[in-house]
Amino acid sequence: MMNPKMLASDAAAALDITLQAVHKKLKSKGLLYEKSQNRLFFFHETAKEFFGFKVRPTIFATQVVKGGTGKTTLLGSLAVRLNLYGLKVLCIDLDQQANLTSYFGVNAEAKPVMIDILIDKEKKIDQEGRPFSFLNYPVPVLPGLDIIPSRIENAILDNYLMVNSLPLDRVYRELFRKALNNYDVVLIDCPPALGQSVAAASMASDIILSPVNPEKFCIDGLKVSFQELNQLEHKFSTSPDVKIIFNKFDTRTNLSHSILQELLKDEIYGSCLFKSYIRLSQEFPNCSGKGISVFDGLRPTAASEDMDLWTKEIIDMIKIADEVKDA
Ligand SMILES: Nc1ncnc2c1ncn2[C@@H]1O[C@H](COP(=O)(O)OP(=O)(O)OP(=O)(O)O)[C@@H](O)[C@H]1O
Ligand SMILES: [Mg+2]
Repeated sequence: MMNPKMLASDAAAALDITLQAVHKKLKSKGLLYEKSQNRLFFFHETAKEFFGFKVRPTIFATQVVKGGTGKTTLLGSLAVRLNLYGLKVLCIDLDQQANLTSYFGVNAEAKPVMIDILIDKEKKIDQEGRPFSFLNYPVPVLPGLDIIPSRIENAILDNYLMVNSLPLDRVYRELFRKALNNYDVVLIDCPPALGQSVAAASMASDIILSPVNPEKFCIDGLKVSFQELNQLEHKFSTSPDVKIIFNKFDTRTNLSHSILQELLKDEIYGSCLFKSYIRLSQEFPNCSGKGISVFDGLRPTAASEDMDLWTKEIIDMIKIADEVKDA
């Protein structure tokens, strides 16, 4: 079972206050927290009150044609971290490999997935005979974190969208926008492919997150994604922002440094790069293997530190009011 924690030390750093001030704020607001091995931490419900972040409801999707760059790992960890900062998160797994679904330990066998939702929507009625409503579908994972899971049947999404001539700019968008009445952020995990479903997910998103790795041909993969998005923009005259997150950065190799420099210098990609990057860390596969997040431990690691910085950068992008300053 995943049991992600917001450590008091991280909360202090996020608000630029002392550990004592965190303790005082928790006490004075009567918020629940726990202590173990002399470390103080809390969960989503407390985080909501503690941070009081207000954000512009935003839809993100991972996209990059190259496989294995860390789309699912980063999206899953981001979902957990945003949730630990008190935001209500909906994850949508569109990949028939269902890696995000397994990341959260969800068994989707008996649960509706995107293809079922589209079929129900056409029929205007769900499996249980209720009038169709997208908000009936999310499956709870953790307090304040739900998922629309995936399974292999989602492999026919591309075909379904094409055969039924569904409008790519609206088919997912109309559904996912409804979710923004209930969630602060929607995070869509896409398969490493270009097709109708990924195009529809792009058109439903405000921001595309593209992880790149320090590999010789990583820029070629980006080029293909950017070309595809340009074509969609041309066709539908609307397009999401694209942000690049450098993942699996290996501080010991020259290649990592030189590819980062190359990206930074690039006229197009340089301005799309997040300031933070994610280091190569065995913590990511280790934690996934154990079914936990990089935030389950009581001590910060390279993985949790990098994910925390990146998450804060994302919150800053969508934040509308400053945190309640009453510590
Ligand atoms: N920063 C990192 N350090 C070390 N390993 C990582 C890091 N990020 C991801 N990984 C590992 O790389 C592998 C691929 O990651 P992941 O499945 O998230 O990629 P993906 O882009 O979603 O793949 P796919 O294209 O198949 O959907 C996984 O084993 C994951 O644990
Ligand atoms: Mg994936």
